[in-house]
Amino acid sequence: MTDLAKLTASEAKAEHERLAAAIRAHDEAYYAEDAPVISDAEYDALRRDLLAIEARFPELVTPDSPSQQVGIAPAKGFGKVRHRVPMLSLDNAFDNDELREFEGRVRRFLGLGPDEEVAFFAEPKIDGLSANLRYEKGKFVQGATRGDGQEGEDITANLRGVIDLPMTIRKSAPPPPDIFEIRGEVYMQKSDFLALNAAQAESSGKIFANPRNAAAGSLRQLDAAITASRKLRFFAYAWGEAPSLPGRTQAEVLAAFSDWGFTVNPISRVCVNMEEAIDAYRKIEELRASLDYDIDGVVFKVNRLDWQERLGFVSRSPRWAIAHKFPAKQASTVIEDIEIQVGRTGALTPVARLRPVTVGGVVVSNATLHNEDEIIRKDIRIGDTVIIQRAGDVIPQVVAIIPEKRPKDSKPYVFPDHCPVCGSHATKEINEATGKQDAVRRCTGGLICRAQAVERLKHFVSRNAFDIEGLGAKLIDAFYEDGLIRSPADIFTLEARDTAPGNLTRIKNREGFGEKATQNLFDAINSRREIPLDRFIYALGIRHIGQGNARLLARNYLSFAALRRALSATDQDAAAAAYADLLTISGIGAAVADATVEFFREELNQKMLDELLAEITVTDFDPPATESSISGKTVVFTGTLEIMTRQEMKAKAEGLGAKVSGSISAKTDYLVAGANAGSKLKKASELGVTVLSEQEWLDLIGG
Ligand code: IVH
Repeated sequence: MTDLAKLTASEAKAEHERLAAAIRAHDEAYYAEDAPVISDAEYDALRRDLLAIEARFPELVTPDSPSQQVGIAPAKGFGKVRHRVPMLSLDNAFDNDELREFEGRVRRFLGLGPDEEVAFFAEPKIDGLSANLRYEKGKFVQGATRGDGQEGEDITANLRGVIDLPMTIRKSAPPPPDIFEIRGEVYMQKSDFLALNAAQAESSGKIFANPRNAAAGSLRQLDAAITASRKLRFFAYAWGEAPSLPGRTQAEVLAAFSDWGFTVNPISRVCVNMEEAIDAYRKIEELRASLDYDIDGVVFKVNRLDWQERLGFVSRSPRWAIAHKFPAKQASTVIEDIEIQVGRTGALTPVARLRPVTVGGVVVSNATLHNEDEIIRKDIRIGDTVIIQRAGDVIPQVVAIIPEKRPKDSKPYVFPDHCPVCGSHATKEINEATGKQDAVRRCTGGLICRAQAVERLKHFVSRNAFDIEGLGAKLIDAFYEDGLIRSPADIFTLEARDTAPGNLTRIKNREGFGEKATQNLFDAINSRREIPLDRFIYALGIRHIGQGNARLLARNYLSFAALRRALSATDQDAAAAAYADLLTISGIGAAVADATVEFFREELNQKMLDELLAEITVTDFDPPATESSISGKTVVFTGTLEIMTRQEMKAKAEGLGAKVSGSISAKTDYLVAGANAGSKLKKASELGVTVLSEQEWLDLIGG
């Protein structure tokens, strides 16, 4: 690692020049080309180093230094569209065994006998951007990006310029319903991509790294005429809101889409069983190079739609589909240095600085080394020649070292036991459930650690959290540095403090700002003073609480006041009850419960919440549209169920908003008892809980 504190003036000047050039190049890649080549954290590290040098050598702070160009004009965005049916992602299988396991899960869920075949529809996984197209009375009325799956951007005007995206659905038998949402992938053909880049080079325009980035950049144009000139195309493969479907299988529906005038992928096919599906994967992989569009794997969908319907979803992906990605692209290069980054939860993540190398068309200069154990396990050292790989959007990884190329004088890498940012001890926790030491070393500095505080703020404003447009990672860094934003509440008091009489360091006077940009930033912040409960919980950045768990908590507690009250209980019994209650939420385990309790126990967090809640409103959880007689009720299943498997029963009940618990208590609303029900049935009658047979329960939920 270059020791910045020891640089001589001339070394500092050279290093400053190198960093400034790198930052400019990454700015260009990120903002102009839609093609970032390093992660945000890595970019931030470059900026930090630059600032550190400038702090020691102020003469290097020239007007054209990147440090003086804080803040980019906030992108004039697109309107938001709430998806009526969430846009999900897919689970991945990494080999044939995992595909067979997937088939096993489907069979068990549906309770299929050994003689029943499950047919799969195999489709190439198109490497583009998914979009939702809404048709009313056969006319294209609205198109949106996937966004976070719940809410996307309104790109209707741009989609009108996409080749093979019909403005009117062609009438055919069966005809399209009055309202129908088609989903699929917007992509650019390889030949069109090459021609576009050639033309761009000619006119000194942006050069795109690959067809996917070119498609993304073209679709995000605010000028729809430019999008239309870019030759984007569309494959239809799914649907959103659809009152009825033109077929009983995936294959039949796609055939109808084709009759309606949409393009469906020609190499998709029905496979009568999993062995045939595995064969289809091989065949599609063989075709890959000859196709004029990028694909990154094969998607397998249970062909029967009644089965898809019964299988339903688990958190963010359907139980009835899986993607098998093609193996990643690899290359070899040298590790020039290993640096340590400190994340939001204090995790120390080692990052290999690589001699730049092109992997699958993208220049890579960093790879994650994951954690200390991974470095020890692979004995990775500075100076080693390594094989790295890139798979899709993920940060490049080191697959293996090449021992023959190891320099003679190389020494094992010593992982720091102190946080490189705040100097606090960095320790490995013992996992209480397994008794094993965690692989990740964490800084114990908590919020006194600048890195953790800054990363938490970045998470807080990020897209799936408060989503404050224009307040990106770089601005958070700069504002933190200058003391303008040190806690979440500071974001919402920024305008008042900035415009207070007597303030001499106004944001509008900063380089790159001005009146308009400043007002845009304040407007963006003010437009987020109201936030739905699940987003808010996610924004808090509690360890282990991603979007899925945040939704689970929101659904269970309904309001932030209720959640906070339960988890801030100080008397022992109430605290124990709150903890037990957390664990009854299906999907919430001990690690999540512990982290949540710990978060509310921390006084600094309580203070942060008090300050923040004085500025914003958290709206109560909106129960899912499928409001039903059992939503909010707690149900326990016991005994042998005969009509559906227990897993399917449970999924169905949860889908209708009920809580499924494993044990009977006074809070239980229903016990559904199958054959041979034992002690739970007895306890239920003692407590006066309503007991239903399997059929009575199905009648109650209307299916
Ligand atoms: S089905 C509920 N089919 O992959 C099912 N997705 O990882 C949702 N994708 O966001 C998607 N080709 O952008 C499906 N033939 C295909 C696909 C496909 C590409 C993308 C899509 C989605 C992502 C999920």
